[in-house]
Amino acid sequence: LGWYTGAEDGYMYVDQLRVEDIRRQVPESPFYLYSKNRIMHNYQAYKKALEGLSSLPCYAVKANNNLIIMKELAAAGAGAVLVSGNELKMAMAAGFDPSRTIFNGNGKLPWELELAAEKGVLINIDSEFDLQNIAAAARKTGKKVKVLLRINPDVDPQVHPYVSTGLAGSKFGIRNSHIGWFLEAIRAEPLLELVGVHSHLGSTITKVNIFRDAAVIMCEFVKMIRSEGFNLQYLNIGGGLGIDYSHQGQVLPTPTDLIDTVRDIVKELGLTLVIEPGRSMGRRRVKTNGNKHFIVIDGSMATLIRPSLYGAYQHIELTKPSNAPMETFDVVGPICESGDYLGKDRQLPTPQPGDGLVVHDAGAYCMSMASNYNLKMRPAEYLVEEGGKLRKIRHEETLEHHLSVFDGL
Ligand code: LLP
Repeated sequence: LGWYTGAEDGYMYVDQLRVEDIRRQVPESPFYLYSKNRIMHNYQAYKKALEGLSSLPCYAVKANNNLIIMKELAAAGAGAVLVSGNELKMAMAAGFDPSRTIFNGNGKLPWELELAAEKGVLINIDSEFDLQNIAAAARKTGKKVKVLLRINPDVDPQVHPYVSTGLAGSKFGIRNSHIGWFLEAIRAEPLLELVGVHSHLGSTITKVNIFRDAAVIMCEFVKMIRSEGFNLQYLNIGGGLGIDYSHQGQVLPTPTDLIDTVRDIVKELGLTLVIEPGRSMGRRRVKTNGNKHFIVIDGSMATLIRPSLYGAYQHIELTKPSNAPMETFDVVGPICESGDYLGKDRQLPTPQPGDGLVVHDAGAYCMSMASNYNLKMRPAEYLVEEGGKLRKIRHEETLEHHLSVFDGL
């Protein structure tokens, strides 16, 4: 499909476009670059995997909240999973169908819940107080609210502790022993309708049997809750499928592998399967300029924080072929933190000042976690569209934009 990198000529490509040419064309550096082809392909891979099942694929907006990308996914029929009132507003602006949208989170605010109730989105219940707030929002708006119980199945996703959410000690979800209380509380609220259960185990998961283990446990909950007289429709198994950050040809499970491992359970119980992929939907790159020994670039932990935050590996390459001697470099940014790096101990051809670097797999959780630390402005974003058309889909922030938050103070 041609969106990938490292063509035989040694240049980096996104679809049919050379990144080297793109970076000469665009005024900003660093910038984010995505392939529409790739994003749509990723979504279609989930759609195809779900064939033969009643399903609701929901894009995890937190992974990349660019409005243009959200619009494309909404137009393709995706649902959305949201974690804030502002994500909800953006999702509505992007055209997501509220009835195919789930509001999730462990600290949802009253105004956010009222908006969600008003719009008719599905809401996950995360705790006792969350249930009370949801009920209050339903009463205040007079709307009937469909809710799912986020259950913590206590299954180890075997990932970095910061992206692990399905273990008993996690701040997310309801424990087994409390479920009876929730069922009675929901029963007592005429405006709440319990329609499903949800679990999200964590992120960057590379073994699908983990999803199966959780689904088996969730299936027991479904049976138990149904036996209490609730008409459950949705089994939401969350997101979390990993991608190959290593670029070493690691063979990872596909969306089809994931869905097939829970297919029989979903069919047997006559449920609608909900999934919430984030990372495996996006893929993009950030380009930076090289310097020497340490490679000091214009991107930083403010542009892309995953390596600093999680010690995450993001593959780094030059945008064009080079015969320069290979050396081991730390690729670092200009931020005043020792933790400001994008790659450590990377074997790369010695770049010249002004050379371009690509940081791969920045499609998810990179721009959405970018910050203004050291007053770095969040970068521009570009999308390669059909026919190799380059489209700007977000302006680089400016200091004026940033200063506007102090207007009138
Ligand atoms: N559903 C729920 C309830 C979630 O909490 C998340 C991610 C997803 C779905 C999507 O998960 P995915 O398919 O993308 O793994 N900032 C971290 C990732 C944090 C993920 C938070 N929750 C990173 O840079 O890797």
